[in-house]
Amino acid sequence: MNLGALVAAALAVVAGGATWFVRRECKRNHSVKGNPTPDGHFGKVMGARRDPPDVYNLDVVTVDSTSAIVTWASAEEAEFEIESASGDPAVIWAEGSPARYHSAELTGLRPGTDYAFRLSRNGGGLERDFNFRTLPDAGRVRFTFATFSDNHFKLDAMSWPDGRLFRRCSEAHECVVRDLNAAAPEFIINKGDLTDVYEPYRLRAYREAVRDLKPPTHCIPGNHDHLRNEDFKADWLDFAGTEQVYRSFDHKGFHFVLLDTCWTGEQERGFLGKEQLAWLADDLEEHSAKRTLLFTHHPTNGEIEENRVVHDHEEFQNTIAQFPNVQAVFSAHIHRNYITTSKLTPGVPYVETASVIQYPMGYNLYQVTATGIKQVFRKLSDVSLNEESWLASPLRCLTNAGDGLGKLSDRNFFLKFR
Ligand SMILES: [Fe+2]
Repeated sequence: MNLGALVAAALAVVAGGATWFVRRECKRNHSVKGNPTPDGHFGKVMGARRDPPDVYNLDVVTVDSTSAIVTWASAEEAEFEIESASGDPAVIWAEGSPARYHSAELTGLRPGTDYAFRLSRNGGGLERDFNFRTLPDAGRVRFTFATFSDNHFKLDAMSWPDGRLFRRCSEAHECVVRDLNAAAPEFIINKGDLTDVYEPYRLRAYREAVRDLKPPTHCIPGNHDHLRNEDFKADWLDFAGTEQVYRSFDHKGFHFVLLDTCWTGEQERGFLGKEQLAWLADDLEEHSAKRTLLFTHHPTNGEIEENRVVHDHEEFQNTIAQFPNVQAVFSAHIHRNYITTSKLTPGVPYVETASVIQYPMGYNLYQVTATGIKQVFRKLSDVSLNEESWLASPLRCLTNAGDGLGKLSDRNFFLKFR
């Protein structure tokens, strides 16, 4: 066999291996119950890259009690306006300058009300209708907090074909800092994967990128943070301002528990362990008079068939089932907005939230009132980041289940206390 034939054979083996891997991973993420990667995602993204539709990706992203945020993209630069779809000719929102990527905040809405709106190009044409129901009036706000997660900080590297927009990592972090400072929650929780790779210099770069974030931030580690690397762990503990990775704190009569699901075994799947679960039971017992919210990197619901939840989710759920003060468990890792429940813990939602670096790049804002907790999801305010991430995501199925954005009720909801 000559050299050319050998090279061709080697290339064929590599291409075959890559195809097998892509197919296996996509199939695995399609097998997730209730939230598979959408069929036709590859074709939709590649089609929009070659020949974008006039208007596409019209998403009612954020719905609050009296406001909503809608985003969309257009093939050409254009100015749009939004009016009621029920015949009232009054324009309630108009764009100030032409753009390809658009975001409209609709304000002055009534709580718990159905709305139907019409988007159209300023001057006519390209009409699209959309509707939603605003969240109920949550009552007087006792306090606010925010979460963001799965930053996978990797300074302006090559983006991945699953939509991780490393190419604009700095801009994304400037934007999330700006957005969170403007929202001004009382504190923030980051649910892990600060960095994409665990070298200490990358954590220093992340630390620099979020240096101007004003609200105090509590961090838990993700599998990408690899706290088993001692140098990284020392820097991480210093950055997190704690000596203990799993811990809890109180805020205005509520109890917050931050858990460590990362371990030295299989990375994609988390683990809590007997020692931490015993600590959790003691901590919940000690604070049983306070309403409690739990935070983890890996989901703990045990509902998804593929292997990314914590191994000991049953032990975890049996532990928290004894404490009716536990209101919800919030996680990250899968880069999607998605809610599940478990028969072992009736009344406790398992809330997964999306990533900062991958469509739908964003964060969550919470309002805690006397009767419950409200969550809204916001995309980064520079919506071009989101649309570019989506255009870069033909192989989203390679790494993540679902489309990331999820259903409206997966990302915006009012949860009444148990
Ligand atoms: Fe993760």
